[in-house]
Amino acid sequence: MDPINVLLLGNGGREHAIAWKLEQSLNLKKLYTAPGNPGTEQHGINIDLDMSDFQAVETIVQDLAIDLVIVGPEQPLVDGISDYLEERDIPVFGPSKAAAQLEGSKSFAKAFMQKNNIPTAGYRTFSIDEFDKAKAHIKQENRYPVVLKADGLAGGKGVFICESEEEMEKRLTLLAEDNILQEAASTLVVEDFMVGEEASVFVICDGKSGKVIQNAQDHKRIGEGDTGLNTGGMGAYSPAPVLPDSMLQRIEEDIIEPTIQGMLNQDVPYQGILYVGLMITKEGPKVVEYNCRFGDPECQVILPPLKNDLLELIQAAVNGTLSDVEISLSDRYYCSVVLASGGYPKSYEKGFEITGIEKCDSDALIFHSGTVIKEDKLCTNGGRVLNVVGSGQTLQEAIDHSYENVKLITFKDSYFRRDIGKKGLK
Ligand code: GLY
Repeated sequence: MDPINVLLLGNGGREHAIAWKLEQSLNLKKLYTAPGNPGTEQHGINIDLDMSDFQAVETIVQDLAIDLVIVGPEQPLVDGISDYLEERDIPVFGPSKAAAQLEGSKSFAKAFMQKNNIPTAGYRTFSIDEFDKAKAHIKQENRYPVVLKADGLAGGKGVFICESEEEMEKRLTLLAEDNILQEAASTLVVEDFMVGEEASVFVICDGKSGKVIQNAQDHKRIGEGDTGLNTGGMGAYSPAPVLPDSMLQRIEEDIIEPTIQGMLNQDVPYQGILYVGLMITKEGPKVVEYNCRFGDPECQVILPPLKNDLLELIQAAVNGTLSDVEISLSDRYYCSVVLASGGYPKSYEKGFEITGIEKCDSDALIFHSGTVIKEDKLCTNGGRVLNVVGSGQTLQEAIDHSYENVKLITFKDSYFRRDIGKKGLK
């Protein structure tokens, strides 16, 4: 196969990890990332582009003779970028708008799972006009904690675990009033609370079949011991000891295969990355949520052990030939610690100079999230700033390697959790 030009859309740590891996591909001619960040620029050329402007993406594709577009984040997928490009005969990696509903609409995902007997928590849905009915239903059930989920994308801010009736009432009022959430909560999903340990499995899909790439565990809360506000993710490690081979096989049979087949059966073939968020309960694995892309920061720990050529895998997914491919992984553990701006996920200052990256071990991987070059200096430019990825023969070694390098990087008000990976050591 002749080498190709690729346009990668996105600007986070996930996209830096994807760009790093794509650069190693023998099938790659040129990599462009739009809009990218100073990290992606180390592996290709950044293009200043608004990803939500599909016409602008099409123009860039034509101007730069792009052969394949790879979509990193969920928003353009849920908004239909894959359909837009495909209608114009531009090859694209990422699910269609209809398939991305697995992430874009929680009520779609729950109904899909119910129809296909895919294990998940019990639920009911209510429209925005039925919040009083929802309140009455929850009060009658009287089972706390109860989970409230806004139907649409809400940037990680649409899920609430309510411990009491009082909290539930307060949340429902906020959901109805909050401007940001109003659109996402036009439908409300009320779910039973699941007890267990969370883990995620990442599957590359070609519409007819899928191959598990790797699994990981994320740390969503800002505080140590999984306390405080939800974030985009403060760190991750892989593989997850909570998912031994027997459990992974069960997940493939009971969840992944029925998901890919179920989507195909309803004429919505799923092509792209399927991120299955799971709760490992006493009764077995159950789906917490689906996402239609790689996780961030999970991507930063699942791509380093992947021995396959990522671009070759993606081309197989786009061409529908994934069943011919075998996934090959190194047996090393990886741990990623996120360095964040002090104050995140609430308000924080930006523009502080970042120093010390050059002191890091050559084996450590430093993936950029919220960074920018200002007057030739690398500066903070977001809530999550950098991902420091360490590796080792054991999870403990990977954790230690990551933290040895974390302490070499400094910027004003930097914050990181000191317990990333700890729950995997239990
Ligand atoms: N780390 C969580 C996510 O990517 O949704």
